[in-house]
Amino acid sequence: MSGAAGVAPAGLFITLEGGDGSGKTTQSQLLTDWLEQRGRTVLRTREPGGTEVGIAIREIVLHHRGEIAPRAEALLYAADRAQHVATAVRPALARGDVVVQDRYLDSSVAYQGAGRVLDGTEVRNLSLWAAEGLLPRLTILLDLDESAARGRLDAANKRFDRLEAEKSDFHGRVRDAFLALAAAEPERFLIVDAALPVEQIAAVIRDRVAALL
Ligand code: TYD
Repeated sequence: MSGAAGVAPAGLFITLEGGDGSGKTTQSQLLTDWLEQRGRTVLRTREPGGTEVGIAIREIVLHHRGEIAPRAEALLYAADRAQHVATAVRPALARGDVVVQDRYLDSSVAYQGAGRVLDGTEVRNLSLWAAEGLLPRLTILLDLDESAARGRLDAANKRFDRLEAEKSDFHGRVRDAFLALAAAEPERFLIVDAALPVEQIAAVIRDRVAALL
């Protein structure tokens, strides 16, 4: 059904990455609308929390009050990913659908690796094990400097979750890690300046995705 581990299935797997407040949700919605207008069936989803099990894990990783040990945190995200890929993403790709997903394994490398204390390669390998090697065809990195991102989150005036509440050097390390990941795999990544107007960003993304359809 889902094909051999690591083999790219029939559909198209697109992920959006970037810091908190970089506009991933807005862009994934616009991209989904555009794909549906073109007649594609789209699974729009996210991590953590794309499945029932994932919603329970999301509650822990984002809102648990006490300390979560770095390896425990990495394993919780990996568990969410394993469930999500096995029960939602791979079946959708096997049907030939497009999967548009907010955050995937690059978030783990950037947040649990560079942002915290774990080795990025180990975190990546843990995620690849969890996902049986599934990598996106395209990863859109919405790159925004830390002060602009913080300004957007403040303007939205919502309560910060565990990761958003981290200090700015944490978010600076996360941003640098995303840029390093993109530089290491230029054919998978599209880096977009997230300070551009929403419509302009959407147009850049559509151009790149159109070439993959
Ligand atoms: P969410 O509210 O979905 O944030 P956003 O709208 O910015 O995507 O919260 C997800 C948080 O979880 C975000 O701060 C990044 C973090 N995260 C990790 O630390 N590791 C991961 O593997 C994933 C998928 C997310």
